[in-house]
Amino acid sequence: MTIAEVQEKIIKLKKEKNICILAHAYQRHEIWEIADYIGDSFGLSEKAAETDAETVIMCGVRFMAETVKILSPHKTVYLANSTAGCPMADQMDIDLLKQMKEMMPDYKVAAYINTTAELKTLCDVCVTSSSAVKILSRFDSDKIIFVPDCNLGDWISKQIPDKEFKLVRGGCPTHVRISENDVTRARKAYPDAKLLVHPECQPAVTAAADFVGSTTQIVKYAEESDEKSFIIGTENSIVEHLQFSCPDKKIIPLSKDCVCHNMLATTLNDVYRCVQGTGGEEIIMSDELIRSSRVCIDEMLRLGK
Ligand code: 13P
Ligand code: SF4
Repeated sequence: MTIAEVQEKIIKLKKEKNICILAHAYQRHEIWEIADYIGDSFGLSEKAAETDAETVIMCGVRFMAETVKILSPHKTVYLANSTAGCPMADQMDIDLLKQMKEMMPDYKVAAYINTTAELKTLCDVCVTSSSAVKILSRFDSDKIIFVPDCNLGDWISKQIPDKEFKLVRGGCPTHVRISENDVTRARKAYPDAKLLVHPECQPAVTAAADFVGSTTQIVKYAEESDEKSFIIGTENSIVEHLQFSCPDKKIIPLSKDCVCHNMLATTLNDVYRCVQGTGGEEIIMSDELIRSSRVCIDEMLRLGK
């Protein structure tokens, strides 16, 4: 079958079975084309809370499918490819966080949404890259333990200098591959291009950027700008998506190594098998885990409105 034929079958089946397909912005272009909604982590969480489909298929990584299940516990939720995890989400040690909370009782805990459901049960609020500054500015504590991404945490702390942040050593193994040298090289080769980067990049990279934002914020910036060339410092699927949506603009990857194999694990055929009912992994969580991990996600949605 061709890509177009598989896409046609997926679209027919999802309508017949009342299935909603959510796709993170890093998904392959052929998955974008059959998705009901494409977005960053915050947009996906909002959609998860409001969709009225009986079944939701997440094309993204595990914590994103868990977030859908937590927000819509009565729906059947699938992760389209069960091997797609976010390595950063598994970095934070639960016992270490418990110890930090005990040692710093006057601090509240903010977690990047890229964390497991178990870890979320210990947190007061969640954030995503697009919503973090707004949420933590409004958050009712000036002393914040931020886990698990110290690069994102460093960037947020610089945007909200009046609050005190305690960071841990963790981060995205994909974005950390972008170096200061990549910035120097790209600036020299394309002096007129705007540099757009994700806040998961190292501090020296975000400090040198013209714009720092989430995946969809980067896409929106490049699409709406009158400028003609852009260097993209995030997962390289965004480079390809922008080349499709802005054919008259020059879209350049900041590093050829910024590739997330977990995000790219999901194929169109995985989605096809999932809508057929023969593939994907159904997300099963206990009522107690859903209830206790939901508190910090609800707080994120409330403060992020
Ligand atoms: P966004 O919130 O920008 O979608 O980021 C999620 C992610 O995993 C980036 O690496
Ligand atoms: Fe996780 Fe980084 Fe991949 Fe995003 S790009 S899913 S943070 S490993």
